[in-house]
Amino acid sequence: MFEIIVKKELAPNVKLIEVKAPLIARKALPGQFVILRVYEKGERIPLTIAEKNIETESITIVFQEVGKTTKLLGKLRVGDKISDIVGPLGNPSEIERFGVVIGVGGGVGIAALYPILKGLKEKGNYVISIIGGRSANYVIFREEIEKISDEIYVTTDDGSLGRKGLVTDVLKEILEKRKIDRIWAVGPTIMMKVVSDLTKAYHVPTIVSLNPIMVDGTGMCGGCRVTVGGKIRFTCVDGPEFDGHLVDFDELLTRLKTYKDEETLALRLFEESEGEKVGYSKS
Ligand SMILES: Cc1cc2nc3c(=O)[nH]c(=O)nc-3n(C[C@H](O)[C@H](O)[C@H](O)COP(=O)(O)OP(=O)(O)OC[C@H]3O[C@@H](n4cnc5c(N)ncnc54)[C@H](O)[C@@H]3O)c2cc1C
Ligand code: FES
Repeated sequence: MFEIIVKKELAPNVKLIEVKAPLIARKALPGQFVILRVYEKGERIPLTIAEKNIETESITIVFQEVGKTTKLLGKLRVGDKISDIVGPLGNPSEIERFGVVIGVGGGVGIAALYPILKGLKEKGNYVISIIGGRSANYVIFREEIEKISDEIYVTTDDGSLGRKGLVTDVLKEILEKRKIDRIWAVGPTIMMKVVSDLTKAYHVPTIVSLNPIMVDGTGMCGGCRVTVGGKIRFTCVDGPEFDGHLVDFDELLTRLKTYKDEETLALRLFEESEGEKVGYSKS
């Protein structure tokens, strides 16, 4: 059992939890994730390790409540325990000294981008961060990202913070003016697709962190199948990071909708039962 030792609400429906997980904290590297079950009979969901703390033997997870399991997770309080957490999973990010790098983060993906940029900064790269959200409330991890960035740009859809517009507007302007050695994009699939389409024209290597549906996290079930450069890849064992210029984003976007009806039903039943009938109890 994994105890929650810190819980914060970062934005509407976006929560941060710090969970005691000594073995995972010791091994986790930027870009890796865990798969957890809130309760014994619960669904397994993948979430990125946003931070680790060796002293408190804990990992930090930032998640958006989008469906039954993330809403259930969001109901837990400090002192509650998560049934199981498996990790660290996936390949770590390639953290090298590239030169000038850009990190593009959208929504909850900003938290997942943070450890990657932190690692890149520690390696001596010049780090430019472009982070965005729907409105000021949704731009999470701004102070953390600011600390490890040489330049930071913020965009919001409604202009309530930073510049009004999309992260790709700023990215395009920078690409027009400067030579960039590598780009990371982490956020909604559609944002990663648009970033990759844009950077392809400028021939800048671009890494994306994919978020398909996952079940086992061991390469056995095929749930996280993606096509990269015409070849089948499993995000849990071959990723989660891939060359954005080679990813078949249209296929990924279609596959993400596969269980839409079931997800909607599960959420409705969960909300009607107020968490009681899903087998979760605090005791
Ligand atoms: C490697 C990896 C790392 C991830 N890291 C994070 C993270 O750090 N924080 C975070 O909030 N989420 C992350 N996700 C996505 C997260 O796993 C899903 O949001 C979660 O599984 C949804 O479960 P649910 O039961 O609450 O909702 P579901 O009922 O499964 O889904 C509800 C709705 O949410 C949307 N949705 C579901 N899964 C995804 C997905 N994978 N990507 C985009 N939209 C989805 C769909 O519109 C769906 O209809 C990650 C996914 C992967 C594969
Ligand atoms: S989650 Fe099953 S193969 Fe990747």
